[in-house]
Amino acid sequence: MCGIVGIIGASPVAPRLIEGLKRLEYRGYDSAGLATLDGGTIQRRRAKGKIAALEERLREEPIQGTTGIGHTRWATHGMPNEANAHPHANENVAVVHNGIIENFHELREDLLAKGHVFTSDTDTEVVVHLISQEIAEGTNDPIEATRRALGRLEGAFALGILLLDRPDVLIAARQGSPLALGHGDGEMFLGSDALALAPMTQRITYLEDGDWAVLTKEGATIRDLSGQTVSRPEQLSSLSGAMIGKGGHRHFMAKEIFEQPQVIGDTLSAMFNPTARTITLPDLPFDPATVPRITMIACGTASLAGMVGKYWLERHAGIPVDWDLASEFRYREPVMTEGGLAVFISQSGETADTLAALRYCKQQGQYCLGIVNAPESTIAREAHAVLPTLAGPEIGVASTKAFTTQLVVLACLTIALGKARGALDHETEARLSGALTEVPSRAAEVLNHDERIRAIAEETFVPARDVLYLGRGTSYPLALEGALKLKEISYIHAEGYAAGEMKHGPIALIDEHVPVVVIAPSDDLFEKTASNVQEVVARGGKAVVFADDAGVGRLKDLALETIALPAVDPFVAPILYAIPVQLLAYHTAVAKGTDVDQPRNLAKAVTVE
Ligand code: F6R
Repeated sequence: MCGIVGIIGASPVAPRLIEGLKRLEYRGYDSAGLATLDGGTIQRRRAKGKIAALEERLREEPIQGTTGIGHTRWATHGMPNEANAHPHANENVAVVHNGIIENFHELREDLLAKGHVFTSDTDTEVVVHLISQEIAEGTNDPIEATRRALGRLEGAFALGILLLDRPDVLIAARQGSPLALGHGDGEMFLGSDALALAPMTQRITYLEDGDWAVLTKEGATIRDLSGQTVSRPEQLSSLSGAMIGKGGHRHFMAKEIFEQPQVIGDTLSAMFNPTARTITLPDLPFDPATVPRITMIACGTASLAGMVGKYWLERHAGIPVDWDLASEFRYREPVMTEGGLAVFISQSGETADTLAALRYCKQQGQYCLGIVNAPESTIAREAHAVLPTLAGPEIGVASTKAFTTQLVVLACLTIALGKARGALDHETEARLSGALTEVPSRAAEVLNHDERIRAIAEETFVPARDVLYLGRGTSYPLALEGALKLKEISYIHAEGYAAGEMKHGPIALIDEHVPVVVIAPSDDLFEKTASNVQEVVARGGKAVVFADDAGVGRLKDLALETIALPAVDPFVAPILYAIPVQLLAYHTAVAKGTDVDQPRNLAKAVTVE
């Protein structure tokens, strides 16, 4: 999603803005640009494509100035081209914007009627003209003109604004899209996340919805919706200023897949007591013994972790669990059980739909628990309690280590709630906790199949146009996750199905051209899944089976390919079986030559609907 960086300082800002933008590259973008205040003019350079193209433009035509704003754009209104790239500017005002201005159409019509000429198809450009119009109508102070213009905007936005006639300030505004201020020595910064600002400062202030701020070199004055000056706390960000590297891997995604034994262990250690062999959660603002119902809410891959959580919590903790996609939940006006628990799962902690669902649940009197990877994110701050995934920054757009660490947290939550409610006897609790502690080393064993999975990917998946993924029980969400991973990075069409649903439609697709990935750990549903493999093969389908030794023994004569994963307690199988489906998608994408870390059209943090 779009990224913002801004600096008001004492030394030339262009190179530092570029560095900040590079740290935002992981969010996904298709054009980039900078604007600075340079000796009485606004200077601007923009380029379609990667930041390297913008750097090339700057080499040809450098810009100076000690105050500036930069942006990476992920196209919403208008094609990804230079004219639509941010900053948008006229002679007096330059603007960078994340989010969507929902009333831009009527504002634009009004401004066109007043003689303004637009040079882009974006919603953002209205902000530039609105400020100029306020000045033209007699608001002499450009800061006051900006305040008035902001008051006319509807929708979700984070804005950084340069004003030619006030070179001593930089304006920031937040309504629904995250924005952070950074405090330096004799300079101030602006960033859509703290990661962009980490090389410049660790001292961060998060703006709240409705806030707008006037930054000078010395500090910031923040005002809320009503115009009152407000004070927002300054906090120390834990993010490191070092550029996150690929650790010898070709892509961030590969590095993140291979980090899983480590980060799964880290996440587990925060909740597992090795002496007592029990799970201990931090203090929670609800009573786990009596909470009547859970609602699991998230988007994309995180929602699939939630679906595994639903299966676990129902079976092992005996709690009714509703599962919802945040984008559907937020508009459905769902009826919620009084005093229920709502769980929000999010890597970024900024996903617009998940955040909106959280706010709805708060109004409905739910206890809101975040399972979040970004500890300083909006969801982490607004939830009543947080169980962190300790995956570290995830840069590859396709979620991998965030997913498996989300599963670890959900597994711990299941055990803790199962115990608190008396649904788990001591022996079962010890078995499930023991199984969890084995996951890091078993995950390392799974990674040993990397080469074999690469070969299968190249031979069987690269030529495919369509792929089916099948699984039952907790392997069903994994089938959905496998299909999602494959389509998002390799652009091959893939569908995940509950294996029992195959006869109800998808079986018609099966022929010798459609690889069928079957996720079949040795659990109580194995035999049923094995029957589905028979049905696939009987129709000429090419089954690629992930199972353990026993399962492979049963299916190797039928399947085109089998991969024998370590035998584990079925409880933890979803965590381990996630890894081969990630590797399969990764190697297919690499062999197809797609942009694995920043696949087309996708963004890392989806901060707009
Ligand atoms: C897929 C993927 C997305 C995210 C989804 C939610 O690989 O990464 O489906 O899982 O956009 O994002 P977060 O977890 O940041 O809320």
